[in-house]
Amino acid sequence: MNLRALLHDRFTAAFEATGIAEAEPLLRPAARPEFGHYQANGIMAAAKQARRNPRQLAQAVVGALREGGIDAMADTVEVAGPGFVNVTLAPAFLAAGLSRPGIEAAPRPDTIVIDYSSPNLAKEMHVGHLRTTIGDAMARVLEALGHTVIRQNHVGDWGTQFGMLVAHLDDRGADSQGAALADLETFYASARQRFDADPAFAQRARRMVVALQRGDAAARRHWERFIEISLTHCRAVYDRLGITLTDADLDAESRYNDHLPGVVEHLDRAGLLSVSDGAKCVFLDGFDTPVIVQKSDGGYLYATTDLAAVRHRCQSYGANRLMYFTDARQSLHFRQFFAVARQAGFAPPECRLEHHPFGAIKDRGGRAFKSRDGGTEKLAVLLEEAVRRADALVRRKSPELGDDAVQQVARVVGIGAVKYADLLRHRASDYVFDWDAMLSFDGNTAPYLQYAYARIRSLFRRADADPADLAQATPTLGTGAERQLALALLRFQETLEAVAAEALPHYLCGYVYELAGAFMRFYETCAVLDAPPAIRRSRLRLCALTADTLRRGLGLLGIDTVERM
Ligand code: ARG
Repeated sequence: MNLRALLHDRFTAAFEATGIAEAEPLLRPAARPEFGHYQANGIMAAAKQARRNPRQLAQAVVGALREGGIDAMADTVEVAGPGFVNVTLAPAFLAAGLSRPGIEAAPRPDTIVIDYSSPNLAKEMHVGHLRTTIGDAMARVLEALGHTVIRQNHVGDWGTQFGMLVAHLDDRGADSQGAALADLETFYASARQRFDADPAFAQRARRMVVALQRGDAAARRHWERFIEISLTHCRAVYDRLGITLTDADLDAESRYNDHLPGVVEHLDRAGLLSVSDGAKCVFLDGFDTPVIVQKSDGGYLYATTDLAAVRHRCQSYGANRLMYFTDARQSLHFRQFFAVARQAGFAPPECRLEHHPFGAIKDRGGRAFKSRDGGTEKLAVLLEEAVRRADALVRRKSPELGDDAVQQVARVVGIGAVKYADLLRHRASDYVFDWDAMLSFDGNTAPYLQYAYARIRSLFRRADADPADLAQATPTLGTGAERQLALALLRFQETLEAVAAEALPHYLCGYVYELAGAFMRFYETCAVLDAPPAIRRSRLRLCALTADTLRRGLGLLGIDTVERM
């Protein structure tokens, strides 16, 4: 049940009845428990617009809500402050909601392509690629809501850099090739250095690009070898990070090579093409620069491939929503090729095209986050460090777990901490990478939430109770803390729907943190194990629902939990 949407409907009807049908209720969860559960803030603006007294208007809205039967779900509905309306839901209504736990599927599921991760295979994934995996949380949430999700890992495996890399690989004896590629970063750097310093090598690199494009067998073989090794690095990172991408989701740039001439032809036939300095471009209203789709030497560009991919995603997959997660610096590229895709008819009007940019990771001094030696930090190295740090932490905190369990918990906590810190804030803002903050056991961190989960699980061990046996228990919600916890549990659905609509997974982080907080307040004020049998069952049921929702919520963020820590 989406509580917020349900109330929103009630308010919309009440607004209509009071003559302010155009106004938006601006319904939010109340900031403090004493304000009730939800607060409508939109009445003041509506009053201003209609030149009516805000408190009187709010009173009329309350009357209309009553008329509409809101008393069946709410204990109190009252005007507050200069013209808010506060709603406090009835315990029986909350309890009834809790008897139908689980995520409700969208009534009209979409077919959604999510383009994420999508690293350039010339190099190894670096710290910034952590952020590209925000798309993975989105894929999980959208799937949980019943949408059809098609993951696409649009890896960069084509273009002039690969000529350079393949030429460099070709110059190593066959025996040393594997070793040379063990560290792609170093390999890339030495190829680059030769390319810049040695004109003969640069010449060879350029000829290699042509050979690759022609489909020359030897060049192709080297290229494939390189790509395969680079992908092996990616797979290891996905595995460690718990990213759900598989080889089946690969949508490499090279896949579209054969489509590119057709894309340009199509643009030409649609009358969108102009030639500027020998390059084929599309000029668009509202943009200072054109989109170049073919260079004067005949080469195609990043945008050309993206146009081919849009067409493929809309036509072959029948997608009605395309989502892209990349660095904010690519925003112009997306705005431009989306506009071309629309005009050319590659994306039909009913298909939503969405670029979801993310900000950068900074160090404490506000500079780009680097490795200790000042280079770009490899993601694989960073993740190793996360697990190492978590290991030391867990060993100190819970030595009784034993070696194997410590190692397993450390993996879950270390990786969880890094991922959670990355998802925690609005994705468009930059954030500071801070080991101490993300690995802290208090505050809004993965370890805090994982620990909260494990604590509830340990409660069940102590109670010698099986949560499954409690499924029939209806919580009685006798105290304020129980009602606040029930409300927090019920807000799961509306949170997921907001994440899905706005592509903002940090809402879910805020949610699980609030849920854990509501649980802590409940647990501090309400006896569970020592309560009389009926209340004990009711409260244990609340504990079970909380544990379940925490686990699922974290799971949708791609973060694991453990039973003990
Ligand atoms: N490979 C690109 C990069 O590393 C990201 C690709 C994003 N997806 C897309 N369809 N353009 O910057």
